[in-house]
Amino acid sequence: EYKRRKEMLRAHELAAKYYNHILMNTEHGKLGLRYLEERGISRTTIDAFQLGYAPDAWDVLRKFLLKRGFAEELLFEAGLLSEAQNVKGRYFDKFRHRVMYPIHDAQGNVIGFGGRILTKEKDSGPKYLNSPETPLFHKGRHLYNLHRARSNMRSEGRVLVLEGYMDVIASYQAGVQNVVAVLGTALTSDHVRLLQRNVQEIVMMFDGDAAGQKAALRSAEVVKDAEVKTRVATLPEGLDPDDFLKKYGKDAYVRAIQDNASSMTTFRVLAMRKDFNLSTDVGREDYLKAVIQTVLTEVTSPMELEKQLRELSEEFGVSVDALNEEVRLAKKSAPAG
Ligand code: CTP
Ligand code: MN
Ligand code: MN
Ligand code: MN
Ligand code: MN
Repeated sequence: EYKRRKEMLRAHELAAKYYNHILMNTEHGKLGLRYLEERGISRTTIDAFQLGYAPDAWDVLRKFLLKRGFAEELLFEAGLLSEAQNVKGRYFDKFRHRVMYPIHDAQGNVIGFGGRILTKEKDSGPKYLNSPETPLFHKGRHLYNLHRARSNMRSEGRVLVLEGYMDVIASYQAGVQNVVAVLGTALTSDHVRLLQRNVQEIVMMFDGDAAGQKAALRSAEVVKDAEVKTRVATLPEGLDPDDFLKKYGKDAYVRAIQDNASSMTTFRVLAMRKDFNLSTDVGREDYLKAVIQTVLTEVTSPMELEKQLRELSEEFGVSVDALNEEVRLAKKSAPAG
């Protein structure tokens, strides 16, 4: 079993080198190189992230790795090959016609890939194709760029958690290097454990679109018991960190992280508003009750609770005492735990 894992790691390392070689040195790779250039990615950054290109062909990687003695079945289990639907035992390259982003584990081993299509046409499959769950790769347990970001995370005491590969790469290229990305999921408790070993603060900055806000909310649920400080920075106008950097530059980006990041509690309090009609008395009351029930009963710091209640009191014209009493009642009627 251990030997098999080792073989899979070696296959991934070779595959990453091969995809990078194709990108940098071949005629096929020019398409990928042009794509990355158009997105403002420098050669230095391509090197740093070991980006690559999988050509528009069925068995380039397969042939390359078979020649080096790997068994097809192992490569399939490692997520590098796909099996033909109607011909069992027939394999072909999983990643084709895509820019390739190697994914590393915390030790820096390549354990999987994300691949991005170059076109905008919907019929070419999903925008990103990722390695499936394999013995090496579990998206709920790994974070993109963790091994590279770790020393910066430690020296800054803080990590920025973003959504996308390109967000991490753009941030890193702009000089903000304490960044990681979740791999197409919300943050998990395994992610939080990995992060809080290295930092005192987690700042999440998800896309300013509906999907990003949803992921941020789900992640907020997960980090609420974290041992470290957690905040959420929100981006305007549906932008993601990569878009934001392009449009407003690094200084504004750093400010968004440092100044515009709210506490997880504030984020949750504000996020609940969209579910209520705050222009009616009934809606406002229901909102306050819901916020108290689901968010404020979980606030353990008395100072934080008071701050939240004071803000709600001012905005909704209800006394802090009355809100406090609601919190007390909600706690009493809540099931233990
Ligand atoms: N994602 C994925 N599969 C998809 C779409 C997205 O795994 N079909 C993951 C990727 O890790 C992606 C992240 O979710 O980077 C965020 O998705 P999205 O915002 O849609 O993509 P961007 O990262 O903004 O991609 P790009 O800038 O390249 O368009
Ligand atoms: Mn693992
Ligand atoms: Mn998005
Ligand atoms: Mn995005
Ligand atoms: Mn993007």
